[in-house]
Amino acid sequence: MDRHNNKHLLLLLLQQLTCTSRAAESSPPPSNELHIGFRAGPNPAVESFQPLLTDSSGNYSLGFLRVNRNQLSLSVLHLPSSVTLWSASTTRLPRWADPTQLSFNGSLVLSDPHTGVFWSTKTPSGDRVWLSNTSNLIVADGPTLVWQSFDFPTDTLVENQNFDTATALVSSNGVYSMRLGPDHMGLYAKFAGSGTGPGQIYLKHTAMEAKADIVEGQPIYLVLKSDGYLGMFQNGSGPPVDVQPFNTFQQIVPGIRRVRVEPDGNLNGYYWTGSSWVLDYQAISDPCELPSSCGPYGLCGPGKVCSCLDNRTVHGSGGCGPPENQNPGDFCGAYDNNRFRILRRSGVELPFKELMGYKKMASVELCEAACGGNCTCWGAVYSNSSGFCYMLDYPIQTLVAVGDETKMGYFKVREGVGKKNVGAWLGLGLGLLFGAVLVFVGVLGLGWYKLKSRGVKGYAEEDGGGVGVGAYKDLGAASFRSIELCER
Ligand SMILES: *[C@@H]1O[C@H](CO)[C@@H](O)[C@H](O)[C@H]1NC(C)=O
Ligand SMILES: *[C@@H]1O[C@H](CO)[C@@H](O)[C@H](O)[C@H]1NC(C)=O
Ligand SMILES: *[C@@H]1O[C@H](CO)[C@@H](O)[C@H](O)[C@H]1NC(C)=O
Ligand SMILES: *[C@@H]1O[C@H](CO)[C@@H](O)[C@H](O)[C@H]1NC(C)=O
Ligand SMILES: *[C@@H]1O[C@H](CO)[C@@H](O)[C@H](O)[C@H]1NC(C)=O
Ligand SMILES: *[C@@H]1O[C@H](CO)[C@@H](O)[C@H](O)[C@H]1NC(C)=O
Ligand SMILES: *[C@@H]1O[C@H](CO)[C@@H](O)[C@H](O)[C@H]1NC(C)=O
Repeated sequence: MDRHNNKHLLLLLLQQLTCTSRAAESSPPPSNELHIGFRAGPNPAVESFQPLLTDSSGNYSLGFLRVNRNQLSLSVLHLPSSVTLWSASTTRLPRWADPTQLSFNGSLVLSDPHTGVFWSTKTPSGDRVWLSNTSNLIVADGPTLVWQSFDFPTDTLVENQNFDTATALVSSNGVYSMRLGPDHMGLYAKFAGSGTGPGQIYLKHTAMEAKADIVEGQPIYLVLKSDGYLGMFQNGSGPPVDVQPFNTFQQIVPGIRRVRVEPDGNLNGYYWTGSSWVLDYQAISDPCELPSSCGPYGLCGPGKVCSCLDNRTVHGSGGCGPPENQNPGDFCGAYDNNRFRILRRSGVELPFKELMGYKKMASVELCEAACGGNCTCWGAVYSNSSGFCYMLDYPIQTLVAVGDETKMGYFKVREGVGKKNVGAWLGLGLGLLFGAVLVFVGVLGLGWYKLKSRGVKGYAEEDGGGVGVGAYKDLGAASFRSIELCER
């Protein structure tokens, strides 16, 4: 019996080392309204989404969404498709674990007693929270709306949600954004190291003003209309100052519409058929015109055939490497950062060069020297016919292959720490890990041997029933099963 207990203790130990415990408690069903005093924490048994609040149609839900396996975001989902329409914007993600909680004390607050407040609506006077049947999360004080998620969009706009100059849609990877200017809509890319501000503009759609003129000094706003277009307006009663029609323009579609800034930098429009989302709009139709369609140091050819700027490298799933070039920073650093080699490639062009700044220079040599002598410059593209020199102040992304060999590219490639060193460190790390495992196994073995030979009673009896002791007593073969499960 004692030997049995010891074996179980070991198994339990192993189990706790290899996986997190999964309590089988169930969460209460989501309600339609939250009131003062509400609090809820993430349920360890929930694999992906834990609903907390559902709208009257049952189509939308606010809840904890599991991300990176053990973290969470507070999100609004379209339940039939599990598409995220909104997430609370936190600088850090809370852990999917006990002290994390969502509470409502007038403000809806996502917090953890150790870390503090991750996110709050900062609405001390709120008295209830609900989710509208258009997916808008609302905090109200009596009849007055004091906060709504529609004012703080994430990467998505739904029908009739106003998007104004104060907000931005940001792609889930944080690289791309959509913003409004005084008379246009812009898409911006902010690659590692590209400083402050929204980054490089790569698509600019200026209002056509076909039906109404823009009154200067008055801000514009954007609305996704049920008729199948993105409209720019200055006032709700007047006609739009601009219309970007979708493929289903002026058609009645079966379900809701949404637009999203995608992780590839495009702005896509979709409608719901009742069982799937259909794409009916893309702001950028030619994939080579996206800022990074073939990844860093990639080259996009007709038909979106990807290759590498360095013709000795084969384009793979990891793009064109080396990975150091996706790290933030520039070449101004004091140590390894400023080591780079030069890669030249002709017949290349920037995908959105008409939106980029340039300097006129007399020769390709002058253009290259201007970039070579400037530690914030990552590369330059020179057009011999126009004399335009485009300098890139962010890590090189994808260029477009053109037949014109007088368009010449000059690119800095970080040399990094080198493969040899990485290998050596990895080897050392693995060696240390292996050593530690050996020592651990040895200690365990010795301990077991001692327990066995001395006939010392098991942990359970000794401790008078510590944490979870009762549970492992009749595990037997089940312990092995749960270990297998954890290893999936
Ligand atoms: C979801 O919304 C659609 C309209 O888009 C509606 O027809 C449907 O009844 C809703 N589903 C539920 C469960 O209410
Ligand atoms: C609500 O809780 C937050 C976070 O704990 C706190 O900062 C805030 O003062 C509370 N508000 C009220 C009205 O108690
Ligand atoms: C949503 O709620 C409004 C009232 O707030 C109602 O008129 C409308 O029919 C509802 N839509 C759906 C799809 O349930
Ligand atoms: C909307 O714009 C029109 C023309 O620019 C103007 O006459 C009208 O007063 C505006 N309405 C509102 C509510 O601002
Ligand atoms: C790669 O490009 C260089 C110069 O741009 C050229 O000399 C070389 O032949 C090319 N190699 C291959 C395999 O295409
Ligand atoms: C270096 O290049 C950046 C753009 O890459 C430019 O803004 C800056 O003015 C340049 N500095 C000098 C000294 O030329
Ligand atoms: C660039 O243009 C100049 C004349 O403007 C010409 O002499 C030179 O050969 C061209 N260089 C290339 C690489 O085409």
